[in-house]
Amino acid sequence: MSLGRWSVPVVGRTAHGPGVVELEVEAPALAASIRPGQFVMLFPETPGAPYLGRPMSYFRRSEETMSVLFRVVGAGTRHLAALVRGDRLSALGPLGQPFPDPEPGEVCLVGGGVGVPPLYDWARTLREQGHGVTVLLGARSADQLLGEAAFSPIAAQLLVATDDGSRGHHGPVTSLLPASTATVYACGPSAMLKAVQEWARGRAAPAYLTLEARMACGFGACLGCTVAAANPDPAKGDYGRYVRVCTDGPTFAAGAVLL
Ligand SMILES: Cc1cc2nc3c(=O)[nH]c(=O)nc-3n(C[C@H](O)[C@H](O)[C@H](O)COP(=O)(O)OP(=O)(O)OC[C@H]3O[C@@H](n4cnc5c(N)ncnc54)[C@H](O)[C@@H]3O)c2cc1C
Ligand code: FES
Repeated sequence: MSLGRWSVPVVGRTAHGPGVVELEVEAPALAASIRPGQFVMLFPETPGAPYLGRPMSYFRRSEETMSVLFRVVGAGTRHLAALVRGDRLSALGPLGQPFPDPEPGEVCLVGGGVGVPPLYDWARTLREQGHGVTVLLGARSADQLLGEAAFSPIAAQLLVATDDGSRGHHGPVTSLLPASTATVYACGPSAMLKAVQEWARGRAAPAYLTLEARMACGFGACLGCTVAAANPDPAKGDYGRYVRVCTDGPTFAAGAVLL
């Protein structure tokens, strides 16, 4: 199905710890067409909501519904978090590219903070395809950790790390990265993505990073989300170029972008 914009009703709202909300909307057309790795732009239909939509990965979906899981950080997410059952929002999507397919064999998913939501349906899909899925979840502290209960029935191995040691490994989640040939997908704060990028340098198996750039349009028109592509080759007249996170991404091979 191609890109569309729908006015959809909120059918569920669940708090997942301090300032984190899962919002479920009835959106059968979107739920049927969106693929793991893609996202939507959300526009709360409430007075005073920002004019520009806010990009969100989807977390879970069923035949009829789709949910997003987000942290409240500013005006847009505050308006989204204030919605209750029966309120409506507009959703533009599906946007962006789905996750690239992995190599045969093991897959490792690394999620930090609110980078965890896009990985859940991907883990489910990979498991259905027969991949063994290791999931590494990181957060500042135990009360900010997302997704542990959702991932535990799916993951062959689930490891947790917190910066303050209040749950799981004490330290960055990237210190749990495996020395295996697993295909790696990482989504989280830029420091985490930089660490994965560094770790993946020279590695034979692929690693992919999902970026969360600020976005105005979400479909390639405004150039507000661009990041520099890596590896310009001046000898071939390539002095560097930019890629759009919204349409070329949001997921890129670890060596393909400058962070
Ligand atoms: C493809 C994509 C998927 C996303 N998926 C999720 C998700 O599943 N869950 C979730 O919680 N968030 C997700 N985000 C981030 C989310 O879009 C922002 O948190 C949101 O747009 C902030 O809007 P706001 O109006 O509440 O905050 P604003 O008032 O716009 O900003 C508040 C603060 O957050 C910072 N900020 C805003 N947007 C971003 C961003 N994209 N990256 C880094 N810092 C930002 C600002 O610099 C500022 O400091 C995603 C972003 C992208 C691009
Ligand atoms: S957000 Fe407008 S081009 Fe990417």
